[in-house]
Amino acid sequence: MLLTTANRDVQAPEADQACIWPNPLFGTHSNDWQAFQRRLLAVCAARGFLLEILGHTDHEPIYALTRRARRKTARSILVASGFHGEEPAGPWGLLHALETLDMTLLDAVHLSALPLVNVSGFSQGRRLNHKGENPNRGFLPLLDGAPASEEGAILLRHQARLVRYGRDGALCCHEDAARQRAYIYANERGDAPSPLALKLRNCNAGFFPLHADGAIDGCLLADGIVFNHPDSSFEAWLFAHGATHTYCTETPGQCAFEDRLLANAAMVSTFIEHHIS
Ligand code: NI
Repeated sequence: MLLTTANRDVQAPEADQACIWPNPLFGTHSNDWQAFQRRLLAVCAARGFLLEILGHTDHEPIYALTRRARRKTARSILVASGFHGEEPAGPWGLLHALETLDMTLLDAVHLSALPLVNVSGFSQGRRLNHKGENPNRGFLPLLDGAPASEEGAILLRHQARLVRYGRDGALCCHEDAARQRAYIYANERGDAPSPLALKLRNCNAGFFPLHADGAIDGCLLADGIVFNHPDSSFEAWLFAHGATHTYCTETPGQCAFEDRLLANAAMVSTFIEHHIS
């Protein structure tokens, strides 16, 4: 399927096409769930994250990580990734950040993470889960009628804790498989993008050119930001349940995998740094 955008013609993967890249930074491929899980368990043990299993889909766990700040009054923020299986630089980037972030930064926030929501999609390098459902829709069914996926139903069962984890902000690391240019979604209470929205966009723009203004997937994009677009995504759901602000970052899936991984790690770091107190 060839999509025409204001920027250039871009190639969207077919629905049944697996999107898998070499992942030299981790010595494997982008869909290696076993290697991802090993490194995740190791970083939790090494850096003091509490690891919990929220539920299982297709016999594999959905993990939640939490780590308490030194100060009780620190902010509570949530980073989530791996909703879509053809967007693997999000989970690997988040894992890279968890492994490499300065401990003083980690000590200054109550940090929670959902590192890989859609394991079956990730393992296959395909967008949807093993049942063909979209794990990032159906959180606000009144909005678009979309049903919750198997993963979404598990997250919804843990609503109280996830809302608490992301009370002071949430970052969801996505990719746009069809594009060569970057952008972000921001859900905020103000009338215009905040300094944090601009920081995240600028961080993404440090790795890739920004997508041109105009329509993108039915949303209005201006200066690299889709601002307050209502949908039934996880990030919109957390925002509707009181999170101060929530973001969905999009790295371009047509660019080099390692750049995308490092861009995701940098945006996670930027997001955490903004919330230290
Ligand atoms: Ni996505």
